[in-house]
Amino acid sequence: MLIAASHYGWNSRISLHLDHAMEESISLELIKGKNLNQNGLFEYISIRQSTRNDYDGKSISKEDWMKIIDAANGEDVEVLVFKDQKEMNSIIPFVKEGAILQFQNQAFVDELIQWIRFNESKAEKTGDGLSGKVTGNPSVPTWLGKIFMGLSVSPEKEADKYEELILNSSGLMLFIAKRNDKKAWINLGRSFERAVLMATSLGINHAHMNMPCEEEAVRKKLVSYLKLEKNMTPLLLIRLGYSEKMPYSYRRPLEEVLV
Ligand SMILES: Cc1cc2nc3c(=O)[nH]c(=O)nc-3n(C[C@H](O)[C@H](O)[C@H](O)COP(=O)(O)O)c2cc1C
Repeated sequence: MLIAASHYGWNSRISLHLDHAMEESISLELIKGKNLNQNGLFEYISIRQSTRNDYDGKSISKEDWMKIIDAANGEDVEVLVFKDQKEMNSIIPFVKEGAILQFQNQAFVDELIQWIRFNESKAEKTGDGLSGKVTGNPSVPTWLGKIFMGLSVSPEKEADKYEELILNSSGLMLFIAKRNDKKAWINLGRSFERAVLMATSLGINHAHMNMPCEEEAVRKKLVSYLKLEKNMTPLLLIRLGYSEKMPYSYRRPLEEVLV
């Protein structure tokens, strides 16, 4: 919203209202502006996507890394990048351990299944979720998809799949909140969005590899391995690389999400 606002000629002021748990909100005030902070990312909003296919392993140039890291820089956030195979290899065990824990957790698998749209008619009806064409899976009836998932998901196989995806990536990027609080989480989300829009502008795709951040026991190991200071909290891990774009995920109409 901020990037689009400045593109259309508005400066924005954000205030966070986080004091009352039941009434938390972020307000965004738009002021018709001069000296707009335009960063050229607007036109990539509709091109960016989470691209979950195999990447081709080609290296990202030093200049492009600098641009992506610069775009990510901001308040409350630190980013670490793992730029070659050796650096990425050091992170793979954490990803695999996180993936195994998640896929051993029935509640996680159940939630994942209810978010998967096993066929296009369901995906179109709900206008959200993870559809087969976005993830590269065939379209099947929902009942069959659920049975298939129940039979075929093995935590170890899932973990191996993620290892494979990292092995053909050009790099990993870890977004770390300097404190584990809501203001830092919000700023980290903004940092992530700027970084991936910049990557998109450079023809570089991205996809999430969040497992080591989401499983607290693994996150603690990662913090200790990376020798991060107290309170520093890794929250998002993505892979970056080059590949063909996939079909785009569904978007609900604006009227459905705007009050
Ligand atoms: C905070 C956050 C965490 C996410 N974690 C995952 C993830 O663990 N695995 C995954 O495949 N996608 C993940 N995604 C990507 C979303 O599934 C994706 O953004 C959404 O489906 C919309 O698709 P798009 O990014 O292609 O527009 C995450 C996105 C966000 C914002």
